[in-house]
Amino acid sequence: MTTALDFARQHQQRFLDELKTLLRIPSVSTDPAHRDHVRQAATHIATELTRIGLENVRLIETTGTSPTGHPLVYADWLHAPGATTVLFYGHYDVQPPEPLDEWLSPPFEPTERDGNLYARGAVDDKGQMFMHIKAVESLFAANGKLPLNVRFLIEGEEEVGGEGIAAYVATRPADLHADFAIVSDTSMFAPGLPTLCIGLRGMIYTEIEVRSARSDLHSGYGGAAPNSFNALAHILAKIKDESGQILIPGIQDTVLPPAEDERRSWQSLPFDEEEFRETVLGSQAIVGDSRFSVQERIWAQPTFDVHGIRGGFTGVGAKTVIPAKALAKASMRLVPNMSAADSFTRYRSFIEQVCPPGVSVEVRLIHSAEPSLIPIDNPWIRAAASAMTQVWGRETVFVRSGGSIPIVGDLQRHLALPCVMMGFGLADDNLHAPNEKFCLRNFHLGIESILRFLESAATLPPTR
Ligand code: BES
Ligand code: MN
Ligand code: MN
Repeated sequence: MTTALDFARQHQQRFLDELKTLLRIPSVSTDPAHRDHVRQAATHIATELTRIGLENVRLIETTGTSPTGHPLVYADWLHAPGATTVLFYGHYDVQPPEPLDEWLSPPFEPTERDGNLYARGAVDDKGQMFMHIKAVESLFAANGKLPLNVRFLIEGEEEVGGEGIAAYVATRPADLHADFAIVSDTSMFAPGLPTLCIGLRGMIYTEIEVRSARSDLHSGYGGAAPNSFNALAHILAKIKDESGQILIPGIQDTVLPPAEDERRSWQSLPFDEEEFRETVLGSQAIVGDSRFSVQERIWAQPTFDVHGIRGGFTGVGAKTVIPAKALAKASMRLVPNMSAADSFTRYRSFIEQVCPPGVSVEVRLIHSAEPSLIPIDNPWIRAAASAMTQVWGRETVFVRSGGSIPIVGDLQRHLALPCVMMGFGLADDNLHAPNEKFCLRNFHLGIESILRFLESAATLPPTR
């Protein structure tokens, strides 16, 4: 008899080849020029889900609720009456590949090098989402049926903060009824160290636009004329102090400090600040509030970052001008128990308050996500931890992440669904950067981890 695990091991090469086919589709969700490619990726996945034996496979349009309108992919198989139901979540959209000249092999030509697969989306999230499909395929192949009920919900707007999926989840469709969700879109704390992520930061992504005059001015008027860029710089500099503390009144009021045992568990993680500074940050120093550990700064404290500033003169040579308009893209990451709406209200009124005289400022919310924290004493989390421990031969660690996956908070709030975040990325996988990769060993052992977890979840009583 071939077990699901045998099947997965025997088909490693085919699984990898199929992943490469998916990675060749440039499904860049933010770029209107790639609209058709995004849809092509959705259709490709739908076809694959049908092929492995899932039912009710369909694209759910999100147009009207989201700026980009990329479809959700849904599928299910519900023929295990009385058994557990799992909801698989992943995203098939990817970040833009730019800057292209820094890639050692083209971003949409998946290339194997020293045990890694290089491509945009290799780990975030096509490669990880694909592990779910291959685990379910292996279960089907070994048994002709599944030991539990499954649903898939795969989105195409995660990387642009598209709220189409949130609007869908908020309607609490019967299609999302499940005992728990499984998400593979996070990282392992260290290579070979089985890791479950139990907390994510939320965010408010904003634009700050400053106007200082009807039109650009000769800078001979400098000294009397207000300057939109100087004013924008002034505003941005007021949001954090030198130690990294956010100065917006009330913003820290609801921040939930990590429980003592969680903080202690963070201290026992294998972490070398110097190595983190050098290999992960590649910077001269680690900044931030020194009263907090690096983990606490990233996982349990809010932050503010500027992503880009547009306008004025940035061409070659020199132009003496006072630009009338300056625009910054900036975001705050939020932590449990901050709320996105309340944080944005405070953020906007603080910016309006510190805006220097003579200019006007407009603060716009582009998208937002609530933070999330999953209770560790959940039976699904425990089953996931022991499956991981079995596969990797080491005790599973629990971490949080500084990044955001908006749907996790929505599933928790609207459907009371706990998310098992079983991720297999590594710190040097270059997410969102040139030379994104997925460690091949993690791809294969990831499939095995998911398989073992599903087999054990199938033996546990449903929780809802
Ligand atoms: N997979 C990431 C989030 C992530 C990365 C979690 C690493 C844990 C470890 C996700 O695709 C992502 O990039 N999210 C965006 C969300 C935003 C656009 C709303 C993020 O965190 O910036
Ligand atoms: Mn992702
Ligand atoms: Mn991402």
